[in-house]
Amino acid sequence: FTPYLHLFQDFWCPTDYVHGVNKFQKHFDAKDNDVFVASFPKSGTTWLKALTFVIANHQRFSSFDNHPLLSSNPHELVPFPEFMYSYDLHDQILSLSNMSDPRLLSTHLPFPSLPESITKSNCKIIYIRRNPFDTFVSAWEFFTKIKSVSLPEFTLEEAFEKYCNGITMFGPWWSHMLGYWNESKTRPNKVLFLRYEDLKEDTVFHVKRIAEFLDSPIIQRGESSTVIENIIKLCGFEKMKDLEVNKSGSIFDVVEKKTFFRKGEIGDWINYFSPSMIEKLSKIIEEKLGGSGLSFKVHS
Ligand code: A3P
Repeated sequence: FTPYLHLFQDFWCPTDYVHGVNKFQKHFDAKDNDVFVASFPKSGTTWLKALTFVIANHQRFSSFDNHPLLSSNPHELVPFPEFMYSYDLHDQILSLSNMSDPRLLSTHLPFPSLPESITKSNCKIIYIRRNPFDTFVSAWEFFTKIKSVSLPEFTLEEAFEKYCNGITMFGPWWSHMLGYWNESKTRPNKVLFLRYEDLKEDTVFHVKRIAEFLDSPIIQRGESSTVIENIIKLCGFEKMKDLEVNKSGSIFDVVEKKTFFRKGEIGDWINYFSPSMIEKLSKIIEEKLGGSGLSFKVHS
């Protein structure tokens, strides 16, 4: 369920990535117009990357018929620099400086561990969170399918214990959420804080919020609702899952692209949780996040 983890700067970092995170923090130079998609793993990152890419590039790629999203996976279009540094992908690191503006990048790092150039510059961050029940199940299904990395073997129950103790990649999940949540309250122009469940239930409204946050011409020009609908269709779960480019191949030779598209539902956790697991996770949510103003939608 989790690779070997190391408690580093108050979060659980895969041991293999510690040097890469250090290099990212030391060498990455953010630009004021960069946009970062940030998330705790399995919270809807892939979907948010797709939407952000289409919205931010609307002027460059206005045709939906031969859009880059039809021939590239969202993780290729909006890459994670921390993994480039971790896998020593020098060509990709160098190519970061040639990406066209605005650069769209992503991160799973907790807010306090972001490179200073990200927190101090005017670049923007869009954070997506998801209810901890579905996030756990999504992670369980995802990590048990990654065969190529040396993952210790856990039962669902053992993985759940670790999750409840915050011991998962980039965890604890509660401090991950809180870090970005607090920042979004003090700097709303810097961090837009979204919920996966809201995005699913009123996609039009949230696509407009993303567009507004990015000062996109879609909003400035008051684009017709057809454009917004086309964006939503292009990034929709079934559409993305069915694309040839998302059915084969892998990212960093580690994760098969198809594993990023499983069910895309709210509430699948009900098929995995026992009554005692429900009680335990509900208590932890109350204990760690009660009074924070964060609430969770766990059923569709
Ligand atoms: P499930 O495993 O519950 O199906 P991440 O992108 O952060 O790794 O999160 C993966 C989760 O987002 C998976 O959830 C996946 O199916 C879902 N997902 C991927 N693309 C999606 C889309 N276009 N719309 C809605 N959900 C999507």
